[in-house]
Amino acid sequence: MTIVKEKVLVIGACGQIGVELTTELRKMYGANNVIASDLRDEHELLKGTGPYVSCDVMNKEMLHVLIIRHNITQVYLLAAILSATGEKNPALAWHINMQSLLNVLEIAKEEKLTKVYWPSSIAVFGVTSPRENTPQHTIIEPTTIYGISKFAGERWCEYYHKHFNVDVRSLRYPGLISYKSAPGGGTTDYAVEIYHEALRDKDYECFLNEETYLPMMYMPDAIRATIELMEAPKENIKIRSSYNLGGMSFSPKEIYASIKAHIPDFTMTYKIDFRQEIANGWPKSIDDTHAREDWNWKPEYNLETMTVDMLENLKSQYL
Ligand code: NAD
Ligand code: SER
Repeated sequence: MTIVKEKVLVIGACGQIGVELTTELRKMYGANNVIASDLRDEHELLKGTGPYVSCDVMNKEMLHVLIIRHNITQVYLLAAILSATGEKNPALAWHINMQSLLNVLEIAKEEKLTKVYWPSSIAVFGVTSPRENTPQHTIIEPTTIYGISKFAGERWCEYYHKHFNVDVRSLRYPGLISYKSAPGGGTTDYAVEIYHEALRDKDYECFLNEETYLPMMYMPDAIRATIELMEAPKENIKIRSSYNLGGMSFSPKEIYASIKAHIPDFTMTYKIDFRQEIANGWPKSIDDTHAREDWNWKPEYNLETMTVDMLENLKSQYL
């Protein structure tokens, strides 16, 4: 029997998800078996924790050489342009989000990588999808370039699995909230900024209106979901486009109230911008029955437990 020693490459390792996912993967596979890579300088929290390589995922030849040279068996592709930044430069967002995925899928096929992870988003859904408990299979007509690129990416993942047997797995993440690495230009970023401002200035100006409910998730749940999906036996992975993934759902008014319960003099005002229109097209909540049935997904955090943990971990930065 051949035992495959896994060697993992994380692309986009210095981003909001990448820093925490790389840290967790290093615990699982050993520090030297997880190579972090990004366009940016190495993130402070990754320094000294394992190998780091500067790499542009758009340069397919360089990426291919990196994968061969380091005997990479698994790739986690996290590099992307997110929703709000994408609307400012749609052609660039389409180019980066699509070509990065095609580069990785093509190399995975050629080098017979054991597994690939690529995240999709709740942004695949649009105004014609049901807003509450949005099902896995429904009308999908995204209106942002980010959502369009994620939906096209999902189709490519399914295609490479079906035609070339690439074991690519994917989650439609909700908006992610975390304190270790800053978010990178999304519509759900308000739910991270609000904690920093509550501690720093005790005042926050929110760019979404108070009744905008969106699906959200605390980062420890998102990291666990990613690892549980990737560790699940191949035969359990029945969806090869991307799994709906549910955590919690709240509005700016509700997250404000949950923080105010701990910081009574915290105030919030509203100054709505272009991100409201993006949010208006997204679901309020997600039906993740398939993830629960296929690989036993179950979130742990709710708004209250997340708020306690966020404030506890951020307060030392602002004291
Ligand atoms: P992020 O913007 O924080 O991080 C992305 C990283 O990719 C950055 O460090 C950036 O420098 C790097 N990068 C960009 N272009 C690159 C290139 N050409 N080559 C190499 N690296 C490059 O994003 P994130 O929030 O960590 O998101 C990671 C993935 O998860 C993305 O695909 C995103 O669409 C998806 N996602 C994120 C959320 C969320 O709320 N954070 C929700 C849904 C889906
Ligand atoms: N959090 C992401 C964004 O707002 C959703 O994919 O862009």
